[in-house]
Amino acid sequence: QQKTKIAPSILSADFAQLGAEVAAIAAAGADYVHVDVMDGHFVPNITIGPGVLKALKPHAKIPFDVHLMIAPVDPFVAEFAAAGADIITFHPEAGAHPHRTVQLIKSLGKKAGVSLNPATSIDVLDYLLPDLDLVLVMSVNPGFGGQAFIPSALEKIAEIRRRIDKVSVAQNGRVIDLEVDGGINAETARQAVAAGADVLVAGTATFKGGPAAYAGNIAGLKT
Ligand code: DX5
Ligand code: ZN
Repeated sequence: QQKTKIAPSILSADFAQLGAEVAAIAAAGADYVHVDVMDGHFVPNITIGPGVLKALKPHAKIPFDVHLMIAPVDPFVAEFAAAGADIITFHPEAGAHPHRTVQLIKSLGKKAGVSLNPATSIDVLDYLLPDLDLVLVMSVNPGFGGQAFIPSALEKIAEIRRRIDKVSVAQNGRVIDLEVDGGINAETARQAVAAGADVLVAGTATFKGGPAAYAGNIAGLKT
């Protein structure tokens, strides 16, 4: 298993200073920039779109991990790829043909991820996992930062870890990230990593205390 990576969710950043915030988390040791895109339809909140992603891209060299909570998803994939997404993750409920969405993302030269809501079964991975670069387990219902971690996510992470390890071995050690998103703090970070997660999304836990605290906040989640 790879070393734990931290993907701060900029949903908890100061939206009036987003460029500086992205630069600050990269300098503070973040591994990915996690960008939560919400459409007010698939989830009950509206955040940012490809124009903002494009403006932020030059502010950090680390990969941009773009979490699309939008439906339909296919019509927007190319635009997010062009705007600077390195990893594009979508929810299988957001389109009729998740395998086609994975093909579309990969045809654009980007890494593809699938996100599972708290009530979504891991069975959806059966015929997708060999083509994925990332699985994102939601440990809250998507829509808002600052929610409490849902414990059943741990069992799901453990089960997906077993599946990923099997696929990875069959594919000569190819890396598939297992990322968890929602309610991550020092305690749930430890639980999620123990269950098999290797990328932790953290909004509240990264941005609390302002820029001077980011490096300590990120380091605290890695241990
Ligand atoms: C929820 C988003 C998360 C969220 C995480 O819909 O996908 O990325 O912002 O925020 P915290 O870490 O505050 O739970
Ligand atoms: Zn997210």
